[in-house]
Amino acid sequence: EKGGFPSFMAKEIHDQPQAVADTLLGRTDATGRLVLDEMKLDESVLRSIDKIVVVACGTAAYAGQVAKYAVEHWCRIPCEVELAHEFRYRDPVVDQNTLVVAISQSGETMDTIMAVRHAREQGARVLAICNTNGSTIPRESDAALYTHAGPEIAVASTKAFLAQITACYLLGLYLAQLRGNKFADEVGDVLAQLHEMPAKVQEVLDRLEEVRALARSMADTRSVLFLGRHVGFPVAMEGALKLKELAYIHAEGFAAGELKHGPIALVEEGQPVFVVVPSPRGRDSLHAKIVSNIQEIRARGARTIAIAEDGDEAVEPYADTVLRVPQSSTLLSPLLSVVPLQVFACELATAKGLDVDQPRNLAKSVTVE
Ligand code: F6R
Repeated sequence: EKGGFPSFMAKEIHDQPQAVADTLLGRTDATGRLVLDEMKLDESVLRSIDKIVVVACGTAAYAGQVAKYAVEHWCRIPCEVELAHEFRYRDPVVDQNTLVVAISQSGETMDTIMAVRHAREQGARVLAICNTNGSTIPRESDAALYTHAGPEIAVASTKAFLAQITACYLLGLYLAQLRGNKFADEVGDVLAQLHEMPAKVQEVLDRLEEVRALARSMADTRSVLFLGRHVGFPVAMEGALKLKELAYIHAEGFAAGELKHGPIALVEEGQPVFVVVPSPRGRDSLHAKIVSNIQEIRARGARTIAIAEDGDEAVEPYADTVLRVPQSSTLLSPLLSVVPLQVFACELATAKGLDVDQPRNLAKSVTVE
């Protein structure tokens, strides 16, 4: 069943182009408009919501953080992301105009179930984004949008993450289309770009040799840092989580802008730091800011590993290693930039002789609070 791969995780990483493609499949009509009737939420409800709150745990929560950047930009609806267990035990401000989006691969994560129940008690509408048909979270929600990643066996989530991000993009584009805001005219363009992503994910998978060699050379590493800005921030957090879970290495993800507010004190000679570099073609000079972050940590002895777009030459002088991904729009780029980080964690754990499918102390679905 591992399809010739050494582990389920390796197989699932390679299933990712399909997971994205299948999640996109059948969700547009003949004219190219998005159709998400399956969600079974009234259009009038979706028109009236004035806030979105994503609740999820772990990797699913990082998918929600990626969604926040896209949904706020496309829909101009405030979008908060909260860990389900934190949401449940404070006094969150939600009402009938709030759309709570519960993201879960298994649909059985107790922390997320409790958040869904709490949100509904407060009168919020709850939409589940879930990979498991008929599981508890979609059953207890008002509506469901399924990811079609197929069964995920390895404990660490990979293909479900890409499918969750894809479903969130569909939701954001659908809301923009439905509400007819300023961005509505661009929905078709973004959708076309989204349909190009499975082939681009495949391109990343076709050039993994360098990251594999890097991982094998780092089997003794004690600590790894991950930096990103904008959508690269949740990608950095996810890269750190994968490394903790699989290779039992101390890892932290930071927003690169926070560096000088504290974390830069951690940087000493030889400290490996992955930096998720935004597209140089993007707005807001984010790229220039991250290049200067790379310079700052390099000057303090860090071993810098950049995940950067094809054609981005500006990072070359400052990065010890550059792992390349195809060009894409900034908001869609997490589907590409996270893949080398997943592979890095999987390879490094394998190089340490660990069981990547069943890391110690972890369960595939966490059915207790
Ligand atoms: C990380 C991982 C966990 C899950 C989290 C939520 O690799 O697998 O962090 O993402 O436990 O699980 P689901 O999505 O099933 O609710």
